[in-house]
Amino acid sequence: MERYHLNLLLSYKQIASIIQDLAEQISKDYNGKELVLVCILKGAFMFLSDLIRHLKVSVKVDFVRLASYGAGMKTSGLVEITKDIETPIEGKDVLIIEDIIDSGRTLQFLKDRLALSNPHSVKICALLDKKARREVEIEADYLGKEIDDVFVVGYGIDFNESYRHLPEIYYVTPNEKQKS
Ligand code: IMP
Ligand code: MG
Repeated sequence: MERYHLNLLLSYKQIASIIQDLAEQISKDYNGKELVLVCILKGAFMFLSDLIRHLKVSVKVDFVRLASYGAGMKTSGLVEITKDIETPIEGKDVLIIEDIIDSGRTLQFLKDRLALSNPHSVKICALLDKKARREVEIEADYLGKEIDDVFVVGYGIDFNESYRHLPEIYYVTPNEKQKS
């Protein structure tokens, strides 16, 4: 018996509609410009792959892998880069693609780090945001959807590396039948 229950939060159709809206805004704002998308691995890979198919601007894609110490449902706030971008971003318009903002520490770290390379601009596009859990002042410039303080999985987002393959987004609750 599974210890956790998955409750549907966003269907694939809802996600697709959110992404369509985000892509329209981004395409409008960066009209005529060339954008470097920096996707945060691993959680944002599915979001990126769906988003880029709807963008009407010229884009380059790169990836960064960040480790925030600690496994499971909590991050410690200490972030390090384990895979850096390879694309030169000096003078470029950079858009960070993130799955979910929680404390905000991951994005703050990456934004500061990318700024050291003197890009023309660095903005953030996040699919989900748990605003209630913010510990540092950082906001997405493009946000899919604000959600409550729940732990989510699916659509690239994991719980201890599982559930990334699910096309929908679910929130995790303890399985009632296991509680006693
Ligand atoms: P932050 O640095 O606290 O904002 O954490 C952001 C990172 O924590 C995200 O990129 C996710 O990898 C992870 N994270 C935050 N909330 C969840 C969740 O509900 N499910 C899975 N991963 C999460
Ligand atoms: Mg992540």
